[in-house]
Amino acid sequence: VQADEDFRPDFHFTPKSGWMNDPNGMFYLDGTYHLFFQHNPDDNVWGPMHWGHATSTDMINWEEQPIALEPDEHGTIFSGSAVVDHENTSGLGDGETPPVIAIFTYHDADREQEGEDDFQTQGIAYSLDAGKTWTKYEENPVLDNPGIRDFRDPKVIWYEEENKWIMSLAVQDHISFYSSSNLLDWQHESDFGQALGGHGGVWECPDLFPMQVEDTEEEKWVLLVSINPGGPNGGSATQYFVGDFDGSTFTPDESIADLGEEHDYWIDFGKDNYAGVTWSNIPEEDGRHLFIGWMSNWQYANEVPTETWRSAMTLPRDLNLTQQENTYRIVSTPVRELNEYSSERISESSVEIEDSTSLATSADLDLSKAEILFEIPQLQQNQQYTFSLSNDKGDVLKFGYDHGKEEFFIDRSNSGLVDFNDNFGDKISSAPRLSESKNLKVRAITDNMSIELFFDEGQTVMTEIFFPQQAFKNFSAESDQSFKISDFKINQLKHNQE
Ligand code: FRU
Repeated sequence: VQADEDFRPDFHFTPKSGWMNDPNGMFYLDGTYHLFFQHNPDDNVWGPMHWGHATSTDMINWEEQPIALEPDEHGTIFSGSAVVDHENTSGLGDGETPPVIAIFTYHDADREQEGEDDFQTQGIAYSLDAGKTWTKYEENPVLDNPGIRDFRDPKVIWYEEENKWIMSLAVQDHISFYSSSNLLDWQHESDFGQALGGHGGVWECPDLFPMQVEDTEEEKWVLLVSINPGGPNGGSATQYFVGDFDGSTFTPDESIADLGEEHDYWIDFGKDNYAGVTWSNIPEEDGRHLFIGWMSNWQYANEVPTETWRSAMTLPRDLNLTQQENTYRIVSTPVRELNEYSSERISESSVEIEDSTSLATSADLDLSKAEILFEIPQLQQNQQYTFSLSNDKGDVLKFGYDHGKEEFFIDRSNSGLVDFNDNFGDKISSAPRLSESKNLKVRAITDNMSIELFFDEGQTVMTEIFFPQQAFKNFSAESDQSFKISDFKINQLKHNQE
């Protein structure tokens, strides 16, 4: 069996030691991307939450920093966001550098134990050295709890039209919006979502932001809402709503006005992308909507077979909004910065697949840190296309597309260590195909313990983790009818660590 360090991803963020869940407080400033994260530094399971911290100039090569926020008399530090207060609306700046303000949830476990419902409140902290060190605001909390058990994960944005801040907050089965002129005093504006979309679990980690619809001048507002449980393949997942926002109320687009419990508006259909939100303060010249998620699932996150560290983030992704058949869809692709870590090892303009065809082995490259790209031109009726990664221990991870059902799939039931939790390898995950194209483009990215599948250039995404007994050494394709793949490439991905 592989050791902890063999499972550790090469170019995905992991904490050096201890437990990690949600990404928090991501902001960009002066060439540096900041990532904070839910962290229990002293144990490998969820516990008293701190905000860990990491920095990067490209979102791929991360450097872990000292812990940013520690629990205090108001509670432990749950998820939240951070903004750069350019105009010093909070008055917490020193008049020279704009303060960075973190807005987070305090979780008071003592009050919870006493049987009270008001144990989650919102607090803030500020940094005058671009995120390095943080001071808690003396008059915390800035938003009290109205007596609701789930009242958390504030995500704050600047609403330019009215010069005010907007906070999206997860409140049990809906999102509440609050506004503020100074980040200190908050007014309730409206509630959204009680009767829309998935409600198989509690709503968590919202993110509201405007997006320009690709190839148009139209602007729409997107609201990400994580839900646990209730994901399309069980456990945790992130759904999204597209609509309009007027500074007070979010109105879903008419194409999703009746969106029910079962729907296909998910950021990622795989089991391991949760609580993701976007970076703040991305310069206008850049304009990207940069997203990162936690690459695990509450069904089994505390039991995955690593001991010294637990959990990784997904690859950072660039979100785009497209218009498709009278509705709007988010498309996600890995950030272009990943290309700097990639070198081509295999390139074939066309390959014939018959029965079972080997496409690459460990003699060609290290398949456990690779980017596999190809196209299936002319999908054939009712054909199932299966691709697999395997090793000498008999572990196999399968993924592919069933054109009869118009569904993608990942099957990790036989991918190595799966018995640590009943929900890990019991079912084959599936995802609908949203594109109508006759050709299928596939981009698969592996990193020791994970696969991220971007089908149809990111229209359907599936991310899952796995724990093989030995690194995967073979990549092959199978089908009962022969078929052709074109533009087949495999690139080696390598983190340039000294
Ligand atoms: C989501 C979540 C958040 C909460 C945090 C606690 O995974 O449950 O709602 O703030 O994790 O660690």
